[in-house]
Amino acid sequence: MTPSADLDAYIAGLPKAELHLHIEGSLEPELMFELARRNGVAIPYDSVEAVRAAYDFSNLQDFLDIYYAGAAVLLTRQDFEDLAFAYFQRAAADNVRHAEIFFDPQTHTDRGVPFGLVVEGLIAGMDRAKAELGVSSGLILSFLRHLTEEEAFATLDAAKPYLHHFIGVGLDSSEVGHPPSKFQRVFAAARDLGLKLCAHAGEEGPPAYVHEALDLLHIDRMDHGNRSMEDEALIERLAREQMTLTVCPLSNLKLCVVDDLKNHPVPQMLRRGLHVTLNSDDPSYFGGYVNDNYSRLAEAVGLTHEQVTQLARNSFEGAFLPEADKAARIAEVDAYARSAGVLG
Ligand code: HPA
Ligand code: ZN
Repeated sequence: MTPSADLDAYIAGLPKAELHLHIEGSLEPELMFELARRNGVAIPYDSVEAVRAAYDFSNLQDFLDIYYAGAAVLLTRQDFEDLAFAYFQRAAADNVRHAEIFFDPQTHTDRGVPFGLVVEGLIAGMDRAKAELGVSSGLILSFLRHLTEEEAFATLDAAKPYLHHFIGVGLDSSEVGHPPSKFQRVFAAARDLGLKLCAHAGEEGPPAYVHEALDLLHIDRMDHGNRSMEDEALIERLAREQMTLTVCPLSNLKLCVVDDLKNHPVPQMLRRGLHVTLNSDDPSYFGGYVNDNYSRLAEAVGLTHEQVTQLARNSFEGAFLPEADKAARIAEVDAYARSAGVLG
């Protein structure tokens, strides 16, 4: 076996958690066509190949425009269940044992799809994944930051009857021009409801947005965080506080956050002691699920078996799971590493 084939096989068998996945971004073109047909919704593409060919982005907004348009085929409870279960089948094939998935309720409620229908469909898919695939999961309600604070509060209100279904809230969509400070009060209200807090920060936005996410939103976990590497004091703080970063290499490449995977900041993040995890973000749009993110990054920057093991450990450590569960799952990672001769 070549060294990279050996590392790919090791990655494939490694137990992992996925902490940064937008369920709407896992809508594969084949399912998009099936749902369009089932629901009688027109889509502006002739074929699956034409959809894939449209996935050529120069920045975050290019992607978001297509991603929101694609979600228009999702209408019924069954659609959301099918979407979720299709993701979990891919995740299980990658040995993902636990996933904390975002959904964007406003993308659906703004089209007249009821909040409860979306949640019930996704939860049905998550329950099936646990029963049939052995993959556990949690659901994170993500606010669209290009919309107003008032709309975010209305979304949090709509969520209240379903609160027991959520582990946390997130903040996504167009970053530049929509700083975390805009959602300070919504995040405080979400925390008062007992929810964990995450926010996308430093994907395209400046290090100042990362500071705001920490100081004003008081996040428990940071999504992306790449541009933190421009700010020495921030790097030291993230290392000191052991803030989990949910980094998404293939997303960063497709959205031109990095020009080449060879220049991805993960090796520097690891060297500086940051608590990095690897995730797929919107795998249907960015060309790969979790194992592809590990393997392609490892190949590009030369990660070792020990480093990919650490990334998998971090994924469970950074999950919103009880401490005993985390310890048990990290023990599984370590047992796997020992059986492969990676840990002594
Ligand atoms: N960034 C911001 N918003 C998003 C993303 C992302 O990577 N994916 C889905 N919505
Ligand atoms: Zn994301």
